[in-house]
Amino acid sequence: MSPRATLIRGDGIGPEITAAALAVLDAAGVRIDWDEQLAGVAAMEETGTPLPDATVESIRQTQVALKGPLTTPVGTGFRSVNVALRKEFDLYANVRPAKSLLPGGRYDHVDIVLVRENTEGLYIGFETTIPMPGEPKAVAASVAIVTRRGCQRVVRYAFEYAVAHRRKKVTICHKANILKAVSGLFLEVGREVSREYAGRVAVDDIIIDACAMKLVLDPTPFDVIVTTNMFGDILSDEIAGLVGGLGLAPGANFGERAAIFEAVHGSAPDIAGKGVANPSALLFAACMMLEHMGEPDAARRIRQALEDTLREGEVRTRDVGGNASTQAFADAVSRRLG
Ligand code: NAI
Ligand code: MG
Repeated sequence: MSPRATLIRGDGIGPEITAAALAVLDAAGVRIDWDEQLAGVAAMEETGTPLPDATVESIRQTQVALKGPLTTPVGTGFRSVNVALRKEFDLYANVRPAKSLLPGGRYDHVDIVLVRENTEGLYIGFETTIPMPGEPKAVAASVAIVTRRGCQRVVRYAFEYAVAHRRKKVTICHKANILKAVSGLFLEVGREVSREYAGRVAVDDIIIDACAMKLVLDPTPFDVIVTTNMFGDILSDEIAGLVGGLGLAPGANFGERAAIFEAVHGSAPDIAGKGVANPSALLFAACMMLEHMGEPDAARRIRQALEDTLREGEVRTRDVGGNASTQAFADAVSRRLG
């Protein structure tokens, strides 16, 4: 029997890149029993809610989802479905690999995996403004909350990831010199957890601002980086920039009860429906999903075909300097798998 997974095609370019990704999985002989569900604007139009109960229930059962990008309309009061899914399934580890594949990125030998805490820190939304006479927003406050358990589980996730993927080093990125409470706890727990991996995975730590600079000057010494929510948000875009940008960057969100795989990019309304979007990021995310589902061989083969197609450069989508359609690119990757 084929393993089950939830499929959300998504908004904008979502349906196009999803169709392309599914065609490549098919060419690789991957058989998944997809439970197709709606979310985002597509769900809003069909069911009146951006995150239908049926979608949540499906992920609860399959525990794994491949998700196209979802549009969050500005100023309509519907909250980000991506954030809602993270909360619903307590997806505490956001994993974003960045690897040099093409000329055009700033560096040729980058291979970094960023593990970002996804549920705590400054992004919990515990915010307020305080009025003073004649000044309605005289003071603003955002509170960061970090728990020992939250730090432990994400740092352990990073080390387990390093072991499973034969990575050599985990760098704990923090600001414990200034934020002695929240960042101090993260660093303290990070060092504690790292001792469990002594002799197997090296550890070092670095202050966030120095980390940001060193990444730009020379990213090659970095391997796995683990950090808190906001620092991870910023650094993950920085490392995507180091290797050439959005069209190739996959991401995965892991919790104890579910994992959701997606591209880092959004629904790209400017090119939606034109058949020119690059499906690579979603395909790399699908490879991460196959590894998670215990299909590492299929993941390796697809990744190889995808990287070879990109490097060879004869068939590339517009965003990476070619003129191939989404479909033609997917066909070229599929041919290499044949
Ligand atoms: P975006 O990532 O959709 O687009 C930024 C630029 O990159 C655009 O010029 C777009 O054409 C290009 N681009 C993105 N993906 C591409 C691909 N696969 N191939 C070729 N070019 C690509 O970011 P934007 O415009 O800020 O957001 C659009 C919508 O997506 C918003 O509603 C936003 O909320 C949503 N979004 C959803 C995400 C998700 O579901 N995980 C993540 C980020 C944004
Ligand atoms: Mg971000």
